[in-house]
Amino acid sequence: MMRRLLGLLLLTAIPLLLVGCDSGGTAELPEEEADPPDTEEPSGPLRGLAADRGLTLGTAVDVGALMNDSQYADVLAREFNAVTPENAMKWNPLRPSRDTFAFEQPDSLVAFASRNDMSVRGHTLVWHQQLPDWIENYRGQEDTLKAILGNHIKTVVNYYEEEYPDQVTRWDVVNEAINDNGERRGSIWQETIGPEYIALAFQWANEANPDAQLYYNDYSIAGGGSKSDAVYDLVSGLVNDGVPIDGVGFQSHLSTEYDAPSDQDLVDNMQQYQSIGLNVAITELDVRIPLGSDDEPSNDQLQTQADYYSRFLNTCLFVSNCSDFRTWGFTDAESWIPSTYEGYGAALLFDEQYNKKPAYDALVDVLYQDE
Ligand code: XIL
Repeated sequence: MMRRLLGLLLLTAIPLLLVGCDSGGTAELPEEEADPPDTEEPSGPLRGLAADRGLTLGTAVDVGALMNDSQYADVLAREFNAVTPENAMKWNPLRPSRDTFAFEQPDSLVAFASRNDMSVRGHTLVWHQQLPDWIENYRGQEDTLKAILGNHIKTVVNYYEEEYPDQVTRWDVVNEAINDNGERRGSIWQETIGPEYIALAFQWANEANPDAQLYYNDYSIAGGGSKSDAVYDLVSGLVNDGVPIDGVGFQSHLSTEYDAPSDQDLVDNMQQYQSIGLNVAITELDVRIPLGSDDEPSNDQLQTQADYYSRFLNTCLFVSNCSDFRTWGFTDAESWIPSTYEGYGAALLFDEQYNKKPAYDALVDVLYQDE
């Protein structure tokens, strides 16, 4: 039943996706084949199915949960082939002072990833949030802050390449540098160093590890709109200037209350980056649900959520410059949503007891559909 419903949703999406294919029509979504007998349909794990599709399938990881909850660690290793540290590589935990780097927490995740054959997406080298006070309150010379930022980026990227070679394959170098109105966001970096901090950050990261894939990452840019256009302008400017950037991350924090970007907009947006030689990635997908007093999502809400998850994955698999798809956490027991968006929750693939939700089955169906 579930599979038939999703098949229908996918069929509805196919014409839109084909219209979005502007490269001479060589790439076509495969036609739905007749369902194989039920016994042959896989029900997971996701990572085996993802590997068959050449897909990096990742999730954000809370290092505290990883250390303290064996079920969290087991499900993570079973289902995903890539991780992103949810917080552990941000400035605040990583840089207690100008002279110190606290690598223990992120190291425990990178070591876990190494043991379980998972790659790591480093997150994030430059952001306006989760900064330690000594940076937040910095009121000094431009050159000094430039030296601090350059030292941070080069030390962190270099450390991971030396300690865990080839493990941290991608970095979110700059995060959320554009405001919702399309202007440059004010931040200590922008105010003190000036707009060129972005190009410098990519150059420093590239110097430290020329093999890593370097990304600009932001929210509300998966579909069209003024912010999306502004990010494209910024990034295409970097490409024109020869700045070493490899891709753009669409965070993709969605809500069942609003429509998700249309398949057409998503394809168009991904392909415009392809036309300037860049990859795209879905870096932080979650689909929050407004919950009633019983805190339980309705079946309709869970179906809408499953539809959004499957459409994003389907689109990523469809375009040739997307092969990295990640959720922002995997269990509703550990998600940033309830504490950030009051009254919302249930945004992820597993419920609080680690039961698979319809969104999980929807991803299995998408991964399996044209095998
Ligand atoms: C969030 C984490 O999930 C929270 O635990 C933390 O308190 C705040 O940051 N965009 C990003 C992520 O790039 O780093 C943010 O992560 C979510 C929005």
